[in-house]
Amino acid sequence: MTPQPSITFAKIASPKKGSAVVLVAEKGAISDAAKACDPSGTLERAFSITGFSSKLASLVEVIAPEGTGLNRLVGVGVGKADAVSEYDWHRLGGVIAAHFRKADDVGIILDLPDGAVSGEDAARLAAGIRLRSYTFDKYKTKKDESDGNPTPRNPSKFTIHCANPAAARKAFADLDAVVDGVNLARDLVNEPANKLGPVEFAAEAKALEKLGVKVEILTEKEMTKLGMGALLGVAQGSPRGARMAVMQWDGGKAKQKPIAFVGKGVTFDTGGNSIKPAAGMEDMKGDMGGAAAVVGLMRALAGRKAKANVVGIVGLVENSVDGNAQRPGDIVTSMSGQTIEVLNTDAEGRLVLADALWYCNQRFEPQFMVNLATLTGAIIVALGQSHAGLFSNNDELSTRLVEAGLSTQEKVWRMPLGAEYDKLIDSKNADMKNIGGRYGGSITAAQFLQRFVKETPWAHLDIAGTAMGSPLNDVSQSWGSGFGVRLLDRLVHDHYEG
Ligand code: BES
Ligand code: MN
Ligand code: ZN
Repeated sequence: MTPQPSITFAKIASPKKGSAVVLVAEKGAISDAAKACDPSGTLERAFSITGFSSKLASLVEVIAPEGTGLNRLVGVGVGKADAVSEYDWHRLGGVIAAHFRKADDVGIILDLPDGAVSGEDAARLAAGIRLRSYTFDKYKTKKDESDGNPTPRNPSKFTIHCANPAAARKAFADLDAVVDGVNLARDLVNEPANKLGPVEFAAEAKALEKLGVKVEILTEKEMTKLGMGALLGVAQGSPRGARMAVMQWDGGKAKQKPIAFVGKGVTFDTGGNSIKPAAGMEDMKGDMGGAAAVVGLMRALAGRKAKANVVGIVGLVENSVDGNAQRPGDIVTSMSGQTIEVLNTDAEGRLVLADALWYCNQRFEPQFMVNLATLTGAIIVALGQSHAGLFSNNDELSTRLVEAGLSTQEKVWRMPLGAEYDKLIDSKNADMKNIGGRYGGSITAAQFLQRFVKETPWAHLDIAGTAMGSPLNDVSQSWGSGFGVRLLDRLVHDHYEG
């Protein structure tokens, strides 16, 4: 992990050294505590002189006047002060972190003209600072920013001054664990495939044991015994072997059925014999984004000691090409007993998930299963990069996911399922084929998965457009976004704890 800024909470007070940040509501309104940091009114003058709009996440800076002992005075706009959402607080932390990247003592006065900022919101701002400060620089040998390393060696120290620092600290303890989960997922997605294959990924899952997660790693031998012919068919073209990590966090009541999260973990997707074009193939190091989100989620839940029984399962393979690789036309038998004609070896994620979902359902009989997968390019065509595709057999679970998406701004958009689509994957030679026709590629992929979940409430999130390479924003400057961790942490928090 790259150096992270330090963050502490304190009572409202004017910083005596370093720099001060104050919140600015509509029409340049600031609190009395903020005014105390700006006795000469220099910052307030700057609002009108620079035409500062006060809109959310806008920023204005002046050099602090002689005699204050400070370096810089910064105003950050919050727009309509009573309409700042929880995600907006993350954004505010993000823009402050971006402005003060290195070597300053930054005192943030979290107060508004019409009332105090809650401890929860203070904690959300702190989490935004951490989310924004993440960079992936472990392979840069030049440790200096002037040499092109984006991570300052000496990041700023932030002190968040707020009305109730004790409440903020308490709320931040949980959010800090969630950010750890997001940053772990980002690390896994950003890591290149020569360093992170199925075996190395499984070791990352195993490392969650130190947080109290039970972790079993199934090897090929065990998966062969279980009859996971769909997953193993994908893996057979790679010398690197296949693994399945089964993680359990038992934070809930002893007899309560678990909830389950299942991830596609293709550590690199060449397409296999149905090989992908060279341009952009490097992005397929991120084809384990679903598995990364599941591992990141388990880390978040264990880190904040969530009161829920949660299973996380990831199917780990490399989809590679060699003389033993699966061929188009091959027929494999899945753990469920259903046979699959593999007409395109590049539609491999669904083969991995078929066995992972079936295994999860059989062994744990969960309350529900949510799977995440960078499953289809077609979902990017359909939805772009700001919503993940949601497919589900259950309206309640769908609604909960959509709502959690709006709260966290990891948004999902529901797509259809139905018999008309399902029949498109019937096969002449086996029970099903692994591709549909030209149209509705994300839907036929989802129909395929549904054949392995029986009646269990289930949702599939197609995160091909959101897990990696999506537009950078105030809280993420990372290629691997960590999409799904905050969303699913929120789902668990709001509906499945206590
Ligand atoms: N991993 C890809 C999907 C993908 C594409 C993820 C772009 C992220 C960015 C998946 O395994 C795949 O190759 N899907 C094929 C399916 C097709 C062969 C039916 C696709 O989307 O083209
Ligand atoms: Mn593929
Ligand atoms: Zn893939």
